[in-house]
Amino acid sequence: MREHNEQQLISLLKMAYSAELAAAYAYRGHWHSVRDPDERASIKRIEDEEWHHRRLVGAMLGKLNARHSRFQEVKAVMIGRVLGVLCHLSGWLAPMYGAGRLESRNIREYEIAARHARDSGHESFIDCLLTMAEVEWEHEIYFRSRVATHRWAPRLPLWLQPPPKESIRHSFERETNEVPMSVPPA
Ligand SMILES: [Fe+2]
Ligand SMILES: [Fe+2]
Repeated sequence: MREHNEQQLISLLKMAYSAELAAAYAYRGHWHSVRDPDERASIKRIEDEEWHHRRLVGAMLGKLNARHSRFQEVKAVMIGRVLGVLCHLSGWLAPMYGAGRLESRNIREYEIAARHARDSGHESFIDCLLTMAEVEWEHEIYFRSRVATHRWAPRLPLWLQPPPKESIRHSFERETNEVPMSVPPA
């Protein structure tokens, strides 16, 4: 069980390591493509936070004696760069919408990784993984709030709203105390 959880943790971290690279490149294109100075600064800050996440995830992989996937890295660079260029062509709404949707998935992935870390005896990773989930939560709400300002927003079906930020730690603590060795349903 412990080894299984460690394998799950490693594969999630490998995916996250490359996903952060793709996101950082995509956000670089994104903030260059918007005109509003506040939006530029906010998306640039989000880009910086994705680079920071990548360093943190890379350090965890190192501690687990695991290496990122070269194939995933090449794919991430291509996806990130293509998305970055598309931001200049697709208009304002699509990149904001796409980013918000993606960020909501990132929250869940770091929450799940924190549970695999707990269940494989890597407790020292938990706080960092939950903090990254919280930062992704901030990213999601930022893009949601931007999409909400668009004139099409009332007619636009939005992705599922994540539960309140506090629930990231509350649900983790509750599950750890009540039902150890569990991963919550998506
Ligand atoms: Fe991130
Ligand atoms: Fe993010």
